Amino acid sequence: MHTVTLEGNGDLTEWRDAARALLLARVVPQDTDWRCRQDVSDDLFAPLAQASISPVADTANPRALTLTVPKTFLALAEAVVCHNDPARFQLLYRTLFRMQDERMLLEVRSDIDVAQLHAMEKSVRRDSHKMKAFVRFKEVGAGDGSARRRFVAWFEPDHHIVARTAPFFQRRFTDMDWIIATPKGVAAWNGDVLTTSTAPAKNPMLTDGTDVLWRTYFSNIFNPARLKVKAMQAEMPKKYWKNLPEAELIPGLIAGAEASVVAMAERAATLAPLFHQRLQAAAQAAPVSILPPAGTLEGLREEARHCTRCALHCHATQTVFGEGPADAKIMIVGEQPGDQEDLAGRPFVGPAGKVFDAVAREVGLERSAAYVTNAVKHFKYEPRGKRRIHQKPNMGEVQHCKWWLKLELALVKPNLVVAMGSTALVSLTDSRQKLSDLRGQILQLGTDQSLLVTVHPSYLLRIPDPARRAEEMARFRADMASVAAFA
Ligand code: URA
Repeated sequence: MHTVTLEGNGDLTEWRDAARALLLARVVPQDTDWRCRQDVSDDLFAPLAQASISPVADTANPRALTLTVPKTFLALAEAVVCHNDPARFQLLYRTLFRMQDERMLLEVRSDIDVAQLHAMEKSVRRDSHKMKAFVRFKEVGAGDGSARRRFVAWFEPDHHIVARTAPFFQRRFTDMDWIIATPKGVAAWNGDVLTTSTAPAKNPMLTDGTDVLWRTYFSNIFNPARLKVKAMQAEMPKKYWKNLPEAELIPGLIAGAEASVVAMAERAATLAPLFHQRLQAAAQAAPVSILPPAGTLEGLREEARHCTRCALHCHATQTVFGEGPADAKIMIVGEQPGDQEDLAGRPFVGPAGKVFDAVAREVGLERSAAYVTNAVKHFKYEPRGKRRIHQKPNMGEVQHCKWWLKLELALVKPNLVVAMGSTALVSLTDSRQKLSDLRGQILQLGTDQSLLVTVHPSYLLRIPDPARRAEEMARFRADMASVAAFA
């Protein structure tokens, strides 16, 4: 029996070297016993079972030393060695051995070994995907003398996927220093070098303001009317919950889902059209005892209340004008009011506003010190049953409403304007440039004003893929941190 003891931390090279030696020596799979060092240390008899695996190589024929395998096998093997099952090495060797005679073996998906390899590969891929989705970085303050922000995350993978998945985080989170600690190794990035180790780490048990953001975000994307507990648990398996700040909301949200749906239905029945029309009439008719002076923000707000510059005023409840200090240094520009803003008459009070507020709070940006407004001041929607579905304003509507935005800019004179989303960008710059090309940079807007372009918070609420969502949330947070730093 040939016993091979490997570290078993997901490194293909150690298995490949051992497998090549055995194969060149024509050792049949039944005569091999593959072990992982951590399993062996508990096995009293392990030392007795050790055997040499040096090949009986045909040195006269160097070609005999090279083994060729299809690329697909190598790709499979790279993933499968990361699997946690001790049987993976034997399975890989058995497949490699069989492939010497059965060249098309990998094509036979019904073959039990091939099927098992694919199942293991899938499990590793899924684990890696979950790591991308569920790593939650916590800020631990800037490093000594460094302006770079530092973050630490804790994650518990099923398999040895840290080294395999770390380059994803390096690509996505280049502008911060981070460490991802796991019981199966650690990955660290310092802006220059990505290092990985297989040494197990301990949970640093950290919390920070981002936890609140995740909870705000989750409670806003949670739709009780669409709740499917099984699908939800498949997407976010329970074993990850203990390290996800937002997970503590789940039992309560599930328990309250039925009552929320009933409440939503009742609310919907009284909302449109009667409630909305009453508000609309009231907003139009509100008496103004003393007119604010022209040329002031209050005067402008009063004028905008009666705006009929485009057809959107016909169906919206009321004009949702900007709000905030008349001498704010920062102006935040969104797209247009949503359903809740239309009814409340205030910008960013609905789900997108909650995400914005949570991020602003987290990065130390005081919303009350900023002037918050929209490119378009009336809610554009399409009635669908009892619901009003948001519609993107068209170019004509944006151009008509620019009248108000320009006057707001002229009166408030902010130092920094933040365009959230492409409608705000077009309105502010007339530029057809892609938002993604300008995003996160501080640009010039006019002679003494700066512009920062970022995504709209409602975009974050619509991203279905958890990994992309986490990535975009972090980027939005970084953009808002630049705004706070500017302030
Ligand atoms: N989306 C916006 O762009 N503005 C709001 O006020 C609310 C949602």
